[in-house]
Amino acid sequence: MREAGLEVGRDEAWNLFGRRGETRVWTGSHLDTVPNGGRFDGALGVVAAIEAVDRLRESPLAVVAFRAEETGPMGSRRLAELPQAFLELHIEQGPVLERLGEPLGIVNGVIGQARGTVTFEGRAAHAGTTPMEERADALVEAARFVLRVRESAKGGALATVGALEVEPGATNVVPERVTVSLDARAPTAQSLDALIESIGFEPTWRLDPVAMSGPPLKALRAVLPGAPELVSGAGHDAMVLAAAGVPTAMLFVRSLNGGASHSPDELSSAEDIALAVDALTETLARMSKR
Ligand code: HGY
Ligand code: MN
Ligand code: MN
Repeated sequence: MREAGLEVGRDEAWNLFGRRGETRVWTGSHLDTVPNGGRFDGALGVVAAIEAVDRLRESPLAVVAFRAEETGPMGSRRLAELPQAFLELHIEQGPVLERLGEPLGIVNGVIGQARGTVTFEGRAAHAGTTPMEERADALVEAARFVLRVRESAKGGALATVGALEVEPGATNVVPERVTVSLDARAPTAQSLDALIESIGFEPTWRLDPVAMSGPPLKALRAVLPGAPELVSGAGHDAMVLAAAGVPTAMLFVRSLNGGASHSPDELSSAEDIALAVDALTETLARMSKR
């Protein structure tokens, strides 16, 4: 960021900023990722933003590397009150552009998402002396629930149990308590309500579907006329800013390997990334014109 001539700082959410002048036009993405994730989710958008702003030395622009997007999203909530416009470049993390044979895509919205946990209470007991019919096995109940979660995800809705905590977690103790994570997503607020109800959990966090809008989207469409438009099934910092009313746009670069993501197989080509950085640069140039 310093080499790009930006003034570098952090906020109390530990987001990293690089600013040129008193601008409120931001670009960037997140630096955190998931366990054993890919090399592009988040990081690509941060590096591309620095490259684009470095090319636009005369333009008042700012770059942000958000914290805790995967587990929050926390960092981007802090920036919502700062910017007047935000643009995020991100790997698609899905198969759409690869199947269309297109290197770039314009995101017009992000589906709704809710997260939470459900805990099952059983009774710890000896694995060798407790008759099967006398057990209160929390993990057996949780296993039945996980199958119900999968059955609940219909008509474009998606539901995932990604983490399971078993207590006490010993091989020779009947599980006393199991906590199950929930990640529920759906294309509309109504279908998200229905999914949450069907699964039967109280979300600890929820964000209804958002739309991209305003000058950033207009500029991106002008730079990439005819580029395919798609709704993102993955959540992003851009969705947090859009939900807060910040005019926001997202540019996707094609995922290869069938859209593999949140895995080491995540991949975009150097050629597609070069096209994406050019489009990001041109769009930011239009957004930052006074
Ligand atoms: O979970 C998501 O959709 C994003 O990768 N945080
Ligand atoms: Mn991610
Ligand atoms: Mn991401």
